[in-house]
Amino acid sequence: MYLLKYKASIPDSEITDEQVWRSRRTLLGGLGAGAIALAAPWASTRAAPSPEQPLKHISPEQWGSSETRTSFSDVSSYNNFYEFGTDKADPKRHASKMPTRPWQLQIEGEVLKPRSFDLDDLLALQSLEERVYRLRCVEGWSMVIPWLGYSLSALLKQVEPTANAKYVLFETAAMPKYMPGLRSPILNWPYTEALRIDEAMHPLAMLGLGVYGAELPAQNGAPVRLIVPWKYGFKSAKSIVRIQLVEKMPASSWMLVAPHEYGFYANVNPDVPHPRWSQATERRIGAGLFAPRIETQLFNGYGTEVAALYSGMDLARFC
Ligand code: MTE
Repeated sequence: MYLLKYKASIPDSEITDEQVWRSRRTLLGGLGAGAIALAAPWASTRAAPSPEQPLKHISPEQWGSSETRTSFSDVSSYNNFYEFGTDKADPKRHASKMPTRPWQLQIEGEVLKPRSFDLDDLLALQSLEERVYRLRCVEGWSMVIPWLGYSLSALLKQVEPTANAKYVLFETAAMPKYMPGLRSPILNWPYTEALRIDEAMHPLAMLGLGVYGAELPAQNGAPVRLIVPWKYGFKSAKSIVRIQLVEKMPASSWMLVAPHEYGFYANVNPDVPHPRWSQATERRIGAGLFAPRIETQLFNGYGTEVAALYSGMDLARFC
């Protein structure tokens, strides 16, 4: 069984199912010039890929890249994407039929240059970087995932936010024909999430266009998603179609449906329990049934980089 092979310090070629890994490497050609430039060094070695273009001020270690990566198999089959159903297996089962090309991402609101980006525009904007981030789900599990993308700020700068742009609202695709979950009123559709502008402009906030060296599988939010590693996973909106820069704090889908359970910030915080369960520890997906739970870190371990965004704020109140 594949999971039994999973252990620390083994190359991706063994962590990921061999066949999937090989075919996904060949897929890199479809990701655009930036990805090809980044991919070239990987193609010549079987060693685990490392970020080729780290952010200036943040070392790869701080992204979590020294931790054992969750296998591609787990990353792409244990998912939350409620548009396709609430079972962890539903997104993989249903999402592949969702058309992800052509795709338009509209950015509007408090910006000087509103515009729509297609996938080629997004891929051409900047070389893709690999960033291995921890993803901590509010449900109490976590993964370590090598994403491909770049800082969201690079995209937002293109549209020149005005001084009134205080918050950034992300709206994701709602395609009733392909998304059986939309028939359930479990959430306000389309799924929306939001960040404060300084959170959105923080270099760690990532526009994700790929994972494990290739395009995003549909169930992981193809073709373009958000990854905000210091916040609970639900802030990382998948399959984004619209970004609005706004002056007033918007309510996200989760805030609208359960305001007593989900606040705007949703920063990972082991000291602030969810009203129905503790957030002190987490289960690392793929670590095995008997692996001890991991102690959850404040800001998911990215506090050195992001704590200053919240200085002076009561983290128990603004959660
Ligand atoms: N985005 C959309 N559009 N719909 C969703 O249901 N679920 C969120 C987030 N983004 C969700 C979404 C939750 S709860 C989590 S934990 C992460 O996606 C999971 O991302 P992954 O399946 O790629 O690990």
